[in-house]
Amino acid sequence: MMDAYCGACHSLQWGNHSGVNALSWPDTSTASSDQVYADIGARQFASSGLGAIGSSLFWAARGRRTDNRNNNAAPANYGCTGCSPGDRFGYYYSSIHDTLGNPAGHPCTTGDAAYAAWVFKVGKWIDNHMPRDTGNAYGYKFDWYHPTADAAISTSNCAATQLRVGWWDDSNAIKSVSVLLGEAVTTPLYVAQWPDPSHPIRNGEALVALPTVSPGDLITVEVHDAQDNRQIYRKRIAQLVSECTPGP
Ligand code: HEC
Repeated sequence: MMDAYCGACHSLQWGNHSGVNALSWPDTSTASSDQVYADIGARQFASSGLGAIGSSLFWAARGRRTDNRNNNAAPANYGCTGCSPGDRFGYYYSSIHDTLGNPAGHPCTTGDAAYAAWVFKVGKWIDNHMPRDTGNAYGYKFDWYHPTADAAISTSNCAATQLRVGWWDDSNAIKSVSVLLGEAVTTPLYVAQWPDPSHPIRNGEALVALPTVSPGDLITVEVHDAQDNRQIYRKRIAQLVSECTPGP
């Protein structure tokens, strides 16, 4: 993405090369992007301490300085190879990024949703300590987050005869959903299981009929995502009934 949006001036392979003194990359393969990553850090173009709003990499993508400081306080001199890194790379926003050379204007103001999503992602990446994918199976792209689950009585008079159960995961790929009465794992009220990882259960909901229950009975909803992150939602029938508003 950075190559597509920024390469016109920062790529060594294509474009006009006008930005290469500040930051450059030959291509975006893992091998050479290691150098870009190191340069972004060493030149202080992005810092998780300052956060996205204090990082010139973010300003370049956003099309304006977002920290309200004086842009002349620490100017840059990217072409100077004899200067100290601080003097050479400064703490500076180049106004060329106001439009990124785009005659129609900056993509954030022309309403380019894909670009806006990328800027948001760049900002989150900086704020989250700029993790780098080094190929580790449990690297930052690994899904460590559990899905979410919910349940509510779904009858117009709030009689405890039917539940609506919902589940959601950011991946939209659920492995299993089960609804139990108490700990009765052998006789689930509802169960769904993917046949295999290429046919996941999508985010959704189901109506689940209840047998005869008493107020003290527990309802358990258990949802697993593809990485076996698990969410368990458990409530007593009495609580579900007290949360229910009868229909008009
Ligand atoms: C229209 C050309 C152009 C585009 C497109 C462009 N840049 Fe730049 N960039 C420059 C120039 C020119 C400089 C300053 C280089 C110099 O003065 O030697 C620069 C400098 C920078 C700097 C140093 C801080 C600063 O603002 O001076 C960063 C960081 C940077 N660019 C990131 C980006 C990113 C990220 C993108 C894509 C969102 C991008 N640039 C797109 C031309 C461009």
